[in-house]
Amino acid sequence: MKIAVIGGDGTGPEVTVEAVKVLKAVARLEGFDCELTDYDFGGERYLRTGDILPDGAVDEMRGYDAIYLGAIGHPDVAPGILERGLLLELRFQLDQYINLRPIKLYPGVETPLAGKGPEDIDMVVVRENTEDLYAGIGGFLKKGTPDEVATQTAIYTRKGCERCIRWAFEYARKRNNPKGKRLTLVAKTNVLTCGHDLWWRTFQDVAKEYPDVEPDYNHVDACCMWMVKNPEYYDVIVTTNMFGDIITDLGAIIQGGMGVAAGGNLNPDPGGTSMFECMGGSAPKYTGKNVINPIAAISAMAMLLEQTGQEKAGQRVLSAIQVVTGTKMKSQGAGRMGYSTTEVGDLVVEAL
Ligand code: IPM
Ligand code: MN
Repeated sequence: MKIAVIGGDGTGPEVTVEAVKVLKAVARLEGFDCELTDYDFGGERYLRTGDILPDGAVDEMRGYDAIYLGAIGHPDVAPGILERGLLLELRFQLDQYINLRPIKLYPGVETPLAGKGPEDIDMVVVRENTEDLYAGIGGFLKKGTPDEVATQTAIYTRKGCERCIRWAFEYARKRNNPKGKRLTLVAKTNVLTCGHDLWWRTFQDVAKEYPDVEPDYNHVDACCMWMVKNPEYYDVIVTTNMFGDIITDLGAIIQGGMGVAAGGNLNPDPGGTSMFECMGGSAPKYTGKNVINPIAAISAMAMLLEQTGQEKAGQRVLSAIQVVTGTKMKSQGAGRMGYSTTEVGDLVVEAL
């Protein structure tokens, strides 16, 4: 397996080291080879050289089986530059049209939801990852004057929503939830009567191909209430890019926060290159202190393995993580784990 590793900014490289440590351990146990290539993309390089992704970098990335990304975000770089120039650029250029975000409360992890445990919080959000408000279409008129007008256009295509919805149905089928397979479309059809009408009609069409999966619908605002009140209701959710961004932060906090939550940007087409990352940022204030939680980073590595043909290795890592959260760690907060970053990585290796 050939993996491009972008440690990135802040605590990104620290958590990446732990994820790679676990990868090497599981590769040894499962008997497969992995070849890692480091890239120094991120804020430091941008400040030094002025480039975010140098010429040819995106094409080079296509040659890998997967990309592993630590975190990006630098206090001296204006917001939006690295996000658009690196993260969104790779998502779009590599056509990673699925953003996969499991929301699973691991044993021993505290959730802010009263009375809910690991059996209640176990759902997966499938977020469309290439369209919507993220397309970057918009402009200004009379900028800087009292009459200023700004537009930001959400675009939705039949192809874009259909491939995402179909992948989500397939995923729900494969996940085979013993409580019943259900796919909930989360949108806002009562207000976004054009774009989300397209999503709604496409969902109805594709649902016919999956009679074993219950098709379901929630408005996004109601979904935010139900995720808090009745998280056990959800199995798989499929949603648009912008709503998916928002509800997966809600999801992240109910699964124990940014120290735990991971995501995958998938191009599931033959020959496609996917990218795996923690949901949290670069946490500059914790950089170099060996206190940041690497569980999200290790979970992202588990997802990388699962999605690139090493399902058993991915499952083994996920189980090992749950042993560590369930029997060792005091908390998932930075500096409060009862262990350092490197020790948590070692514990996962030991559990493996
Ligand atoms: C995420 C992040 C990104 C997004 C930002 C950093 C551009 O919030 O992966 O959820 O909005 O998609
Ligand atoms: Mn987000």
